[in-house]
Amino acid sequence: MYKIIVAIDGFSSCGKSTTAKKVAENLGYAYVDTGAMYRAVTLYFIGKHVALTNPREVAQALSDIHISFRRNPQTQVNETYLNGLNVESEIRKMTVSDHVSPVSAIPEVRRAMVAQQKQMGRTKALVMDGRDIGSIVFPEAELKVFMTADPVIRAQRRQAELLAKGEMVELNDILENLKKRDHLDTTRAESPLVQPEDAILLDTSFLTIEEQVELVTGWADARIARL
Ligand code: DC
Repeated sequence: MYKIIVAIDGFSSCGKSTTAKKVAENLGYAYVDTGAMYRAVTLYFIGKHVALTNPREVAQALSDIHISFRRNPQTQVNETYLNGLNVESEIRKMTVSDHVSPVSAIPEVRRAMVAQQKQMGRTKALVMDGRDIGSIVFPEAELKVFMTADPVIRAQRRQAELLAKGEMVELNDILENLKKRDHLDTTRAESPLVQPEDAILLDTSFLTIEEQVELVTGWADARIARL
């Protein structure tokens, strides 16, 4: 059976990660959340007070960072580790969300992350989600999906997610954060968020996670069958 790379890009809180994770399970593929990698770098930079405009400090910090994913045997969920420490819940907090866009716009940061991500795709059989997977990391990916949704619906989803983890945040604050990040992510000079020409557009505003998963799994199966 041929193995493919499924690249899922799009705006935050469209259900990208949840969809990508379940599609990977359905296909028996590995799953990589690249947003978690940029979040882990951001957490490290915040903790070490790295000056984002100082290329030497940034390069030094990057050489001190090791990011890995390990499956939690109880939940079967891939969790993010930064230099051997589990940072899965810390990287999802608003402090990290507030700082992640400028960090992920730094060319050295992107180069380091993209190099690691390309390595992860060596053996194919991979579902990867992010902002530049179909455009920069795997332009040759056999299936590219670009996810979008109405901003208010995205903010409501993010609010529910944060609430489930005990963090209460006003809807307007979340909406502002999302809009600011959308703007920074789509206008940055280094690999901005763009819909690749050969990507399938998936608007998730009125879809359930199950429906999204079914659609993307179906597209992947069809692509594999055509190989
Ligand atoms: O998907 P997320 O919200 O966890 O991503 C966090 C941030 O990381 C987001 O603001 C954009 C950035 N990001 C990126 O620039 N490139 C990627 N491949 C993935 C995420």
